[in-house]
Amino acid sequence: MNREKKTYRIARIDGDGIGPEVISEAVKVLESAGRAQGLGFEWTEFPFGARHYLESGEILPEPALVELGRHDALLLGAIGDPSVKPGILEQGILLKLRFHFDQYVNLRPAKSYPRVPLPVKAPSMDTVVVRENTEDFYMGLGARCGTSPLEADISAGRSAYTIRGHLRLDFDPPCASAVQIGIATEDAVRRITAFACRTAKNRREESLVLASKSNALSWIYGFWEEVAADEAKKEGMALSIANVDALCYHLVRDPGRYGVILTPNMFGDIVSDLLAGIAGGLGVAAGANIGDGLSMFEPVHGSAPDIAGTGRANPVAAILSAAMMLRHLGEETAAAAVENAVVSFLDESEEKELPWEFGGKGSVSGVGDAIAERTSGSSR
Ligand code: IPM
Ligand code: MG
Repeated sequence: MNREKKTYRIARIDGDGIGPEVISEAVKVLESAGRAQGLGFEWTEFPFGARHYLESGEILPEPALVELGRHDALLLGAIGDPSVKPGILEQGILLKLRFHFDQYVNLRPAKSYPRVPLPVKAPSMDTVVVRENTEDFYMGLGARCGTSPLEADISAGRSAYTIRGHLRLDFDPPCASAVQIGIATEDAVRRITAFACRTAKNRREESLVLASKSNALSWIYGFWEEVAADEAKKEGMALSIANVDALCYHLVRDPGRYGVILTPNMFGDIVSDLLAGIAGGLGVAAGANIGDGLSMFEPVHGSAPDIAGTGRANPVAAILSAAMMLRHLGEETAAAAVENAVVSFLDESEEKELPWEFGGKGSVSGVGDAIAERTSGSSR
């Protein structure tokens, strides 16, 4: 049968450090899996990151957002470089993309893979963090001052609302201070809870856990607990609530006991790095930022400037993020082919072919080649 080739338009922001190296390998694997499955890709490269910023002063201009929005998905390497003050690019590119495209889900699986040793006593693990990705202490709202009063105009926008207000705090006696505001809105908590419940259902699980902290931060996380519990009930799922500190303790001691972990934004940032460590390393930690518009796929790891250009980067996390992209695009067969190729590569390779991170000497492109080759025969 002559199957018509389906072509996806994918935007690339390779970014900084090891970003370009790992994204090249993810693209190689997607091309190879695509050939086998009758899928094509049209790539548009966007230059944003440290070098572009230092050369042009441009971070992520509005017209680029419009152009990015015309794509089916965005593949992102890593953002951040020691030559730029921390925060400028992370907030100006990464967080800007998440907020602009209302990518309200940050999906971060933490799975054990063959020959990737777990640093904890557990035979295997398969958890996924469903992190709310637009609110909490990530709103960018706050102020600091040298002496009292602390005073600032507050404004922020999300796709569902805008916030405008004025904050004034008088300290007696006057003192230098800073404030950062965390926000939770009902609709945002409901939609991420519903997504987490659906994720658990797809995994054939009947319960999920919310990482919270209402014993100390009652306003925001007490609200979260009530709204999430109500939404989970509507979805017919059992939601248990754990304080995030206790959850971290149990995750290290018995990670196999957890499935879907629903989190507010900041706890999700921390818990997903903890889980990446427990599952064997950032080199296999994939991630997706999903919304109703443009979704973005990026490994959990950063730009790792210390190993950039040495060939020692591990492209597996970027390749697994690309598999998440295929699944999001509805290409389940191709997504599974890429994931199976990663598993068989890790399982069957000689020690020296494995990534440096796992004790081998496999170069970033060598690992990419080996995985790409394993996807090329999967055509039916
Ligand atoms: C992540 C990162 C970002 C975050 C930083 C770079 C802003 O740590 O994607 O986990 O905090 O979300
Ligand atoms: Mg993080």
